[in-house]
Amino acid sequence: MSMVFASSHPLVAHKLTVLRSTDTEPKKFRELIREIAALLTYEATADLQLLPRTVQTPLQKMSGYELQEKIGLVPILRAGLGMVEGVWDLMPSAEVWHIGLYRDEKTLKPVEYYNKLPIEPRVSVCLVLDPMLATGGSAVATIDIMKRWGVKKIKFLGIIGAPEGIEMMQRHHPEVPIYLAAIDEKLNQNGYILPGLGDAGDRQFGTG
Ligand code: PRP
Ligand code: URA
Repeated sequence: MSMVFASSHPLVAHKLTVLRSTDTEPKKFRELIREIAALLTYEATADLQLLPRTVQTPLQKMSGYELQEKIGLVPILRAGLGMVEGVWDLMPSAEVWHIGLYRDEKTLKPVEYYNKLPIEPRVSVCLVLDPMLATGGSAVATIDIMKRWGVKKIKFLGIIGAPEGIEMMQRHHPEVPIYLAAIDEKLNQNGYILPGLGDAGDRQFGTG
């Protein structure tokens, strides 16, 4: 069973409410996606492995730490793009590998259109980024790609998850933890999350 983390942090709750509002313009929307992604990264990285590293302070030497694992950020195009900067701010040495998927409007199944992964993975931990976990099809397909690529440690970072998407992830990738700002009620007949925030790609890029 996947570990599902839904934030109860007041900053996340406040920012998410503004994000949902129809009054929020694309510029502010992108800023909030980035900030919420950073707040969730703090939770999602709590178990990263460390190596000891000696550091010279202005007063003396001491033993400190550095991150041991090579981290890959995997935004699902388009909407996952907005989360990258928030995560990257905290882990500037992470590599970013884009996966392009769109949801077919009729079948709601993901269609892959961009994948330039090299043959061998150069990262040991992947954070898959997508604000919306709706039916779960896009997240499951991307994690399938990550597994085929050979990455062993995978986490999903989203903003809003529907129970249907969480259940699909649990069926297909039960060992992948899911980090969200909120779990909403359900999907509507068009596969949109209720109450949700609408179309996360269109709202970021002003294309709605
Ligand atoms: C949205 C969203 C997810 C997907 C979620 O992308 O960003 O990738 O839908 O739905 P699912 O869980 O049912 O697969 P969309 O297909 O609208 O593409 P876009 O990001 O380019 O707008
Ligand atoms: N994709 C979105 O952008 N929003 C939803 O509610 C569902 C899928």
